[in-house]
Amino acid sequence: MTVNIYDDPDFFAGYATLPRSAAGLDGAPEWPALRALLPSLAGRDVLDLGCGYGWFCRHAAEAGARRVLGLDSSGRMLARAREINAHPAIDYALADLETAGLPADSFDLAYSSLAFHYVAAFDALLARIHRALRQGGSLVFSVEHPIYSAPGHPAWSEAGDGRRIWPLEGYMREGPREIDWFGARVAKRHRLMSTTLNALIGAGFAIRHVEEWRPTDAQIAAKPSLAVELERPMFLLVAAGRRS
Ligand SMILES: C[S@@+](CC[C@H](N)C(=O)[O-])C[C@H]1O[C@@H](n2cnc3c(N)ncnc32)[C@H](O)[C@@H]1O
Repeated sequence: MTVNIYDDPDFFAGYATLPRSAAGLDGAPEWPALRALLPSLAGRDVLDLGCGYGWFCRHAAEAGARRVLGLDSSGRMLARAREINAHPAIDYALADLETAGLPADSFDLAYSSLAFHYVAAFDALLARIHRALRQGGSLVFSVEHPIYSAPGHPAWSEAGDGRRIWPLEGYMREGPREIDWFGARVAKRHRLMSTTLNALIGAGFAIRHVEEWRPTDAQIAAKPSLAVELERPMFLLVAAGRRS
């Protein structure tokens, strides 16, 4: 099992302070856009890869999903999920997305929010997800946008006229990145946009929608600090279907 920074007590405590941790899906500004990409959940079998606290698992169960399986490689995240987002239709299980076996032809929807950019063996994961989906099944996910993941930290630089610039140096160099987050060194993987999309196509998915998320005017009016998200994309949202 890959060592998971989310099991570090100090990092875990820091992550708990994020709005998306405390308020769940409503605390995640990209959630309305991601939600719009989802198929109907009623009666479906749903897989959540890197489920964290299980907010989406609970949403799916409450929307009528028949069964929801939430996988995560952090025991601490799963313990919290079982505590705050338990539901009879949900099973939470410890699993490393780098290697976890998934049952074949078992799910109608594979969902993942902000977990795939921690995975190095992305092609192999997509092959396992494809096999786990039924004919007509969907994969809907978000990752950090590669423009966001490219430079690592510190990312902003001063333009000299008061503006801040997001440097793209390093965009073409794929591979590991480390950032400082909540007092820890957090390891991620930077992949080009084309690598992510071609990996989906190569694994047998038809891409249905790609979104470089930005906040709406209404979201910025309600929370002005979101205006920074107009300077560079932070999230990439993708919906795909099992093609073959
Ligand atoms: C940013 S959190 C997102 C949690 C949740 N999906 C959400 O959107 O609220 C990333 C999650 O991915 C999990 N994760 C990271 N690497 C993983 C891996 N190799 N296998 C399984 N889960 C992993 C972490 O433990 C953490 O729960």
